[in-house]
Amino acid sequence: MAIRDNAIGGLFMITFVCAACAMAEASGSGGSGGIFDITKLGAVADGKTDSTKALQDAWAAACGAAGQQTVRIPKGDFLTGPLKFRGPCKGYVAIQLDGTLLGSNNLQKYNGSNWVEILHVDNIVITGSGTLDGQGAAVWSDGCKILPNSLVLDYVNNGTVSGIKLVNAKFFHINIYKSKVVTVKNVTISAPANTSNTDGIHIGDSSEITVADATIGTGDDCISVGAGSERVNIQGVTCGPGQGISIGCLGKFKLENDVRDITVRDCVLRNTTNGVRIKSHEEVLSPLVVSRVAFENIKMEGVANPIIIDQKYCPENTCVENRKNKNQVTIKDITFRNITGTSTTPEALSLLCSELIPCSGIELLDVNVEYAGKDNKTMAVCHNAKGLSEGSLQALACL
Ligand SMILES: *[C@@H]1O[C@H](CO)[C@@H](O)[C@H](O)[C@H]1NC(C)=O
Ligand SMILES: *[C@@H]1O[C@H](CO)[C@@H](O)[C@H](O)[C@H]1NC(C)=O
Ligand SMILES: *[C@@H]1O[C@H](CO)[C@@H](O)[C@H](O)[C@H]1NC(C)=O
Ligand SMILES: *[C@@H]1O[C@H](CO)[C@@H](O)[C@H](O)[C@H]1NC(C)=O
Ligand SMILES: *[C@@H]1O[C@H](CO)[C@@H](O)[C@H](O)[C@H]1NC(C)=O
Ligand SMILES: *[C@@H]1O[C@H](CO)[C@@H](O)[C@H](O)[C@H]1NC(C)=O
Ligand SMILES: *[C@@H]1O[C@H](CO)[C@@H](O)[C@H](O)[C@H]1NC(C)=O
Repeated sequence: MAIRDNAIGGLFMITFVCAACAMAEASGSGGSGGIFDITKLGAVADGKTDSTKALQDAWAAACGAAGQQTVRIPKGDFLTGPLKFRGPCKGYVAIQLDGTLLGSNNLQKYNGSNWVEILHVDNIVITGSGTLDGQGAAVWSDGCKILPNSLVLDYVNNGTVSGIKLVNAKFFHINIYKSKVVTVKNVTISAPANTSNTDGIHIGDSSEITVADATIGTGDDCISVGAGSERVNIQGVTCGPGQGISIGCLGKFKLENDVRDITVRDCVLRNTTNGVRIKSHEEVLSPLVVSRVAFENIKMEGVANPIIIDQKYCPENTCVENRKNKNQVTIKDITFRNITGTSTTPEALSLLCSELIPCSGIELLDVNVEYAGKDNKTMAVCHNAKGLSEGSLQALACL
């Protein structure tokens, strides 16, 4: 998984030349309760005609008006290139997505940016029963290109994403960066198991983020919580296939912020390569602390590696050469409570911490995951981890 949190800067200056005419054509005349229907602004529901301009015009009009405003995307298939929904807005904007947006596969149009970007917007709601279809299949083989994330929330304060489906993103499905008080709930995210970097939801440098009641299955992490994340609650997520729910990868970039107060509870992981994990690079560019993380009430169903802390995770063969410092990631006060089910490899638990900064305050409480195969016994591999085990399977009680 590659992280591209900060791929979007303040690079885009969009001028909305047609804001005035969009306003005139919208069913609301601009005041409170305006509805800006993209089909009334020139969008064509044939899945082929580029409807980018209609969407931008609808946004400009809704964002420019005071009170409650709605950008309406009715049923039908609408093709679009990159969309920049930039704030601040005068009032409260909701995007009512009932149709399907199809992400253009003309990569030149994106020029390194994402597909649907919500930038510097407060009080935004994205809801409906519609779909964001990234149409990634056409570009996944271009592994070395920078591909657009599907839905990006950048510098959003008080946002909700609910009801919608996201499928086949070219890169991450949802990326939340530098945002506060955002809830993602009742969403479904899917991409084939054999795709890379199709993470479900990535969170970075954000606080008070909730992900609830989501069904996520892709080729990469269902949810990844990156550096600078605080007060993140993940609850009621069904994950699989994919690589599980992960904190990290950490230590990849310079001056990363700490990660703390993360809760993952009431989740089911089904047929994933990993279950719940914390991963960091062995040699990092600057010190970082991960603390107060709780994984509770988690069911593993046929998960290859259910519980992992790995301070020596290093996906790129070259990365060690670039790093001068030794491990400086502190991992402490991590609780695994009431974790049950089956693993498809004997190693149901692995805590691989560094000699330099051992993991501390690790609690294994009622951890009962068993190897589902015949030949071997369930086992744990633990290095440099300190803490306590209670009520857990004997073979896993390595602390
Ligand atoms: C593409 O992005 C680069 C760097 O962000 C920028 O300098 C250039 O002007 C952009 N090109 C177009 C056509 O927008
Ligand atoms: C958050 O946004 C919602 C939806 O626009 C709005 O109803 C609510 O008042 C906002 N909350 C705060 C604290 O501003
Ligand atoms: C979840 O979203 C769907 C639309 O995709 C909606 O029909 C359903 O009512 C929502 N469920 C809840 C509990 O909000
Ligand atoms: C994934 O598997 C499908 C079906 O086996 C195949 O058609 C597709 O090319 C594979 N995709 C990638 C990105 O490997
Ligand atoms: C598990 O996922 C793999 C693809 O990652 C799939 O081929 C296999 O059928 C799945 N197994 C179950 C039991 O769902
Ligand atoms: C343990 O977690 C399961 C869900 O995996 C839940 O149904 C059960 O109530 C939890 N037990 C306790 C004691 O919290
Ligand atoms: C079982 O253990 C043996 C050696 O201890 C190993 O060679 C083999 O790969 C293991 N089997 C599985 C299914 O992990």
